[in-house]
Amino acid sequence: MTRHVPAVPTVQRTGSDPAFFSCWDIHSYYGESYIVQGVSFYIREGEVLALLGRNGAGKTSTLRSIARVDSPQVTHGEIWLDHKPLHNMKSHEAAQSGVGLAPEDRRIIAGMTVEENLIFSQIAPPVGWTIERIYEHFPRLAERREQKATTLSGGEQQMLAVARALARDIKLLLLNEPYEGLAPVIVHEIEKIVDSIKELGITTIIVEQNAVAALRLADRAIILDMGPVVFDGFAQEVLDNADLRQQYLAI
Ligand SMILES: Nc1ncnc2c1ncn2[C@@H]1O[C@H](COP(=O)(O)OP(=O)(O)OP(=O)(O)O)[C@@H](O)[C@H]1O
Ligand SMILES: [Mg+2]
Repeated sequence: MTRHVPAVPTVQRTGSDPAFFSCWDIHSYYGESYIVQGVSFYIREGEVLALLGRNGAGKTSTLRSIARVDSPQVTHGEIWLDHKPLHNMKSHEAAQSGVGLAPEDRRIIAGMTVEENLIFSQIAPPVGWTIERIYEHFPRLAERREQKATTLSGGEQQMLAVARALARDIKLLLLNEPYEGLAPVIVHEIEKIVDSIKELGITTIIVEQNAVAALRLADRAIILDMGPVVFDGFAQEVLDNADLRQQYLAI
């Protein structure tokens, strides 16, 4: 049975919410443009959630709202991460509270090597993975540690962006289109990395045009459709339901 859930009543509106992450009725604007229109969902600790929807559905804007970047501006709603109210924070405070947005957040720094980029992301506490641990998980980055980061291939730059998020002590990883523009072989490599992120129990939201790849990794999925959440359920339900995919994802 498909579950079309118009709003998400299971999300509670208080800091005592047992969910590790929850957002409740968030609304955000780019200037006059009203884009995120009452989005609510939750994630349990260690879960991977696929955030899906057609082009322009508001996926990136939702991630940016959660990361508390200046635009879009969140005008209403609550966002809680491990009992901390992200909705009251600026982006640097949300980052300090454990939100890691990749690859958009803190883009690769031109002129610095791979290693310098990694070290730089650890300048401010709390520090996450050590550089050695990152290299164990990203052997390609280890091989290229002395290389200027801007000369990395697109796929390697995506890896570096994810690695830079992990170099901080994150509680919630926001992955925006980690496979975008990458050849299938590189997608496969990044999939392996995301897989190991999942094994490590890092709570993650993955936004991906390649919905099937995201759904294979995810425990749960939500679908946005120009506004509120139109589906909230298990990732497998979306994989199994061709009508749902056709209706909201056009795949
Ligand atoms: N800075 C901005 N100013 C005004 N409108 C914006 C801005 N950024 C995004 N939008 C609009 O907000 C809507 C949602 O955009 P968003 O990037 O969140 O969609 P998306 O679901 O991530 O799409 P895609 O799959 O194409 O990445 C779109 O109509 C877009 O044109
Ligand atoms: Mg987007």
